[in-house]
Amino acid sequence: MSSWNAFHDFEQAGWQRAASSYSNTFGTLTVLAAGPLLDAAGVGAGTRLLDVASGPGYVAGAAAARRAAVVGVDFSSLMVDEARRRYPQIEFVEGDAEALAFDADQFDAVVMNFGLLHLARPEAAIAEAYRVLRPGGRYGFTVWAGPDEAIGFGVVLRAMETYGSTNVGLPDGPPFFRFSDADECRATLERAGFTNVAVRKLPLVWRLRSSDELFEAALHGGVRTSAALQAQTPQALEAIHRAVLTELGPYAEGDGVALPMAVVLAAAEKR
Ligand SMILES: C[S@@+](CC[C@H](N)C(=O)[O-])C[C@H]1O[C@@H](n2cnc3c(N)ncnc32)[C@H](O)[C@@H]1O
Repeated sequence: MSSWNAFHDFEQAGWQRAASSYSNTFGTLTVLAAGPLLDAAGVGAGTRLLDVASGPGYVAGAAAARRAAVVGVDFSSLMVDEARRRYPQIEFVEGDAEALAFDADQFDAVVMNFGLLHLARPEAAIAEAYRVLRPGGRYGFTVWAGPDEAIGFGVVLRAMETYGSTNVGLPDGPPFFRFSDADECRATLERAGFTNVAVRKLPLVWRLRSSDELFEAALHGGVRTSAALQAQTPQALEAIHRAVLTELGPYAEGDGVALPMAVVLAAAEKR
């Protein structure tokens, strides 16, 4: 098996495991990007929209509220179940972002909210979005900004580097923060044939009820970071946990935490 296939399968198995906890962890944050992403992709009443890597269906749900004609696609059957349960009026199908089972030129807009950074072959997914869009159709995606601006990732990764190990034998995948760089987004989209590329930052803030919620999210709500944390020794994990709680001190707000989690939002048009 190629290393990219191993990474793809590792992500798929990881999302099956994370599907039940995602909505109570990272989902409380990713949902905040749905409106700006739909605006950037020009989604309104009647827009034929494909929501790729739809997860629990937040973006598709927000699009349906705008009276768009939306389909969601995700390669985790348990995420698809979750999305259907939340939004029974919307069509969600199982499928792979890197090989979409849709004809060419049939959508007015394609979006991907926090999917690209989980893909083995992001270029393949961008090429597939281009293929299924009609000429003039719009594409939009979000990813996390770098760890100095998406503070929660910075805190957890620093603690893991300091008190544990980041080399725990996970399958190799593309760099997690590759598309945090606006120039990389622009160049990749233009290479795929897109035009009118615009990249901007969304200054999201994650309001957590307690400092423990970040550690819990990192431990169970995702794939790469969760797997890396779960591979630590119990002693290292305990030290990482303590360091995360300490580093969150400056972000205390009332009884909880207000954590800056900046997002990169890229949008472009099919020629
Ligand atoms: C971080 S979650 C984002 C979910 C949702 N878009 C949101 O706004 O919260 C990433 C999602 O991408 C899906 N995913 C990852 N790789 C995929 C692929 N190759 N094809 C389809 N879905 C994929 C996962 O199953 C998961 O539901």
